[in-house]
Amino acid sequence: SLSFYGMSTFEGPMMSIKTVNALSHYTDWTIGHVHSGALGWVAMISIGSIYYLIPRLFGQEKMYSVPAISIHFWMSTLGVVLYIAAMWIAGVMQGLMWRAINDDGTLTYTFVESVKATYPFWFIRFLGGALFLAGMFVMAWNVWKTIAGQKPYNAPVIAPAAAHA
Ligand code: HEM
Repeated sequence: SLSFYGMSTFEGPMMSIKTVNALSHYTDWTIGHVHSGALGWVAMISIGSIYYLIPRLFGQEKMYSVPAISIHFWMSTLGVVLYIAAMWIAGVMQGLMWRAINDDGTLTYTFVESVKATYPFWFIRFLGGALFLAGMFVMAWNVWKTIAGQKPYNAPVIAPAAAHA
């Protein structure tokens, strides 16, 4: 989470530089930046917090399966890395294709050609996203099992006499 925080908040100021933004704007680079922040930083820090809170809220020592947390961690990490790496490469490629000009001043590529060239990267993006999503199902199972195993909460009972005193 902290790594992705570092990456996305380093990348953001870079993308706000006019010459960099001239290339990145409208491309999948922005989409990669967004998800590096949203999935890598915000989602992963939230997921970590929930793993900390759930056992405490439901009277358990720890989550039902600690190894499943590690599996989820690696699924999320790999998922985001696949996602953002594909979007970086696709974004730079799109930006370069859109600005490429022939000697006579005409565009080297049509827009549709840039879309077609992006297909392999969208497939990698799909794999990364699917891996991230699958990790959330691992978490849902773990949370379900943790809550299902909770011990009954013994609320203190106030005796009627004491209550009126
Ligand atoms: C110092 C930190 C950051 C800076 C300076 C920054 C800067 C930028 C820049 C320059 C763009 C591209 C705008 C464009 O070309 O249209 C952008 C897009 C975006 N960033 Fe960041 N970013 C930062 C961190 C983050 C983080 C941590 C997240 C998510 C948690 C995030 C979410 C987004 C979103 C959703 C967009 C897309 C906005 C749109 O296209 O309308 N950013 N950001």
